Amino acid sequence: MIPLDFSGKIALVTGVGDNESFAWFISKALQAAGAKVVLACHPRMMGIVESILTRDMDRESRLLPDGKTEFKPAKVLPCDASFDTMADVKLDELPEATKRAYAKLTGDYSISGMIDAVGKEFGGIDILIHSIAFGREVTKPLIDTSRKAYHEAMGISAYSLTSMVRAAAPYMANRPDGASVVGLTYVAGERVVPHYGGGMATCKAALQIDAKQLAWFVGDKNIRVNLISAGPYASRAARAINKDFGKLIDHAAEHSPLRRPIGPEEVANSTLYLCSPLASAVTGQILYVDCGYNIMGT
Ligand SMILES: NC(=O)c1ccc[n+]([C@@H]2O[C@H](COP(=O)([O-])OP(=O)(O)OC[C@H]3O[C@@H](n4cnc5c(N)ncnc54)[C@H](O)[C@@H]3O)[C@@H](O)[C@H]2O)c1
Repeated sequence: MIPLDFSGKIALVTGVGDNESFAWFISKALQAAGAKVVLACHPRMMGIVESILTRDMDRESRLLPDGKTEFKPAKVLPCDASFDTMADVKLDELPEATKRAYAKLTGDYSISGMIDAVGKEFGGIDILIHSIAFGREVTKPLIDTSRKAYHEAMGISAYSLTSMVRAAAPYMANRPDGASVVGLTYVAGERVVPHYGGGMATCKAALQIDAKQLAWFVGDKNIRVNLISAGPYASRAARAINKDFGKLIDHAAEHSPLRRPIGPEEVANSTLYLCSPLASAVTGQILYVDCGYNIMGT
C-alpha cells in the first residue's frame, strides 16, 4: 500500500474567502489526509469564513469526504497579502471601508507577522498554500488597465508568493519529509485569454517564473515549490471576471480532451499529491489540472 498520511503535518492555507474557494477544498482535503490546517484569510473575509465554519446551514460544505467528519481549522488568522510587514500599512491610503475595518484589528496581519505567529505557535510549517489573486480592474482588458491597478494586482497576486516563501522558509526548512509550497495559476499566464484583464495574466506569468526561481532558492532546505494551473471554475473571484464566465467554462469543457469541466476537489487532490512524499522529487513545476485543456490548439 502507498500511504498518503499527513498526520503531524502543519498546513498553512491562504485564500479561503468562502466555501467555494479552491483553498476551501484544499483545506478540507489536507485535514482529511491528517494534517492540522491553519487558515490565513483576508481580514475583510474573516467574518464570512468564521460563519461558514460554524453555521448549521453550511454544515454540509464542511463535511470531509468520509461524509461524517467536519472541517475544523486549528486556527483562523487575518492576513492582507498587500503587506509584507506592518510598516507597509498606511491606513490613510486605504479605501474608507477597508480603513474602518482594519482600524478595529489588533495584532499583526501582514504576511511576515502572520507566518511568524503560525511558525512559532505550531513549531514549524510543512505545507504552505498560496491561493490568492486580486485585480481591481480585472474586468478591463489589459490595454485599458491603469498602471496603479496593474501594480496593485502584481503585488497581491504575484509578489505575495515570494514574500510568503521568504517569511516561511525558516519554519519550513529541513522538515522530516521536506516541505511543500503550492500556488494556483491559470493558463492565461502563458496564452492569450482576452477577457482576463486588469494585468491578471501578467500576474500569472510572473507567478510562474517566480515559483521556478523560488524552487531554486529554497531547494537546499528541502522545500519544494510548485503550481497548479487550474481549469476555469466558477468561484467568487472567477465570477467577478466576467458575467459570462459560465460560457468560458463550457468552452473549455467542450475543447478539453476529457470533454468536461474540472471540479474543485480535483484541484485539492492534485495539491495533496504535490504536498506528499509521492512528489518528493517534484519542484519548480506547473501541474495542469484542467482536463487537458492546455494542450489544445483550438
Ligand atoms: N477560479 C478559476 O477559474 C481559477 C483558475 C485558475 C487559477 N485560479 C486561481 O486560484 C486562486 C484562488 O482563486 P479562487 O478561484 O478560489 O477564488 P476565491 O475568490 O475564492 O479566492 C481568491 C482569494 O484571494 C483572496 N485575496 C484577495 N486579495 C487578498 C489580499 N490582499 N490578501 C489576502 N487575500 C486576498 C480573497 O480573499 C480570496 O479568498 C487564485 O490564485 C486564482 O487566480 C482560479
